[in-house]
Amino acid sequence: MTRRTLLAAPALAFGQYEESKGDVPWVPTPDEVIDAMMRVARATPRDTVLDLGSGDGRVLIYSALKFGTRGIGVEIEGHRVAEARAEAEKAGVSQKVRFVEQDFFKADVAEATIVFMYLFTAVMGKLKPKLLAELMPGTRVVAYQFNGMGDWKPSKVLRDFQHPIYYWEVPRLRPAKSRDTK
Ligand SMILES: C[S@@+](CC[C@H](N)C(=O)[O-])C[C@H]1O[C@@H](n2cnc3c(N)ncnc32)[C@H](O)[C@@H]1O
Repeated sequence: MTRRTLLAAPALAFGQYEESKGDVPWVPTPDEVIDAMMRVARATPRDTVLDLGSGDGRVLIYSALKFGTRGIGVEIEGHRVAEARAEAEKAGVSQKVRFVEQDFFKADVAEATIVFMYLFTAVMGKLKPKLLAELMPGTRVVAYQFNGMGDWKPSKVLRDFQHPIYYWEVPRLRPAKSRDTK
């Protein structure tokens, strides 16, 4: 996928796009899906949630308000980072969440105890070696709609919404093959 993919308008599904510099267009995750994803990940106030491609910040803001989590959002679009910071301020959680304008392939992921992704399969596949190499064993990973982890099979799949929710835990013993495959 080229660096210049397409960005969706707010309420649209993947498929209706405008220009973007990211690898995936912006499509927000519905609140009820965020809720279910955080429940499957057993989110608590001890957790730090990392949203790779954090858009307008809704995942981390919702999770901070409902589950008391801390959050780090990594987002390539500067205007979305600004929006997320403003929304966090409005929601009163700007002490708990921070948003970084950065390419998620270059992000420091090690602090996360939960990783959230709503990204295309191919993009998740490219992130997989980084996640397996840099996340602490036991880190919980949740994804909506797309599963790009290949031979790293999810330990849970929920099918209660329009699209599936996938859940993984970073294994303690990592097969060399999994570290290297896309
Ligand atoms: C499908 S949206 C998900 C937004 C948010 N996580 C949610 O679930 O509501 C994907 C987001 O990833 C961002 N993105 C795409 N490629 C990126 C990259 N290489 N680095 C950081 N963010 C990226 C897009 O700008 C977009 O906001």
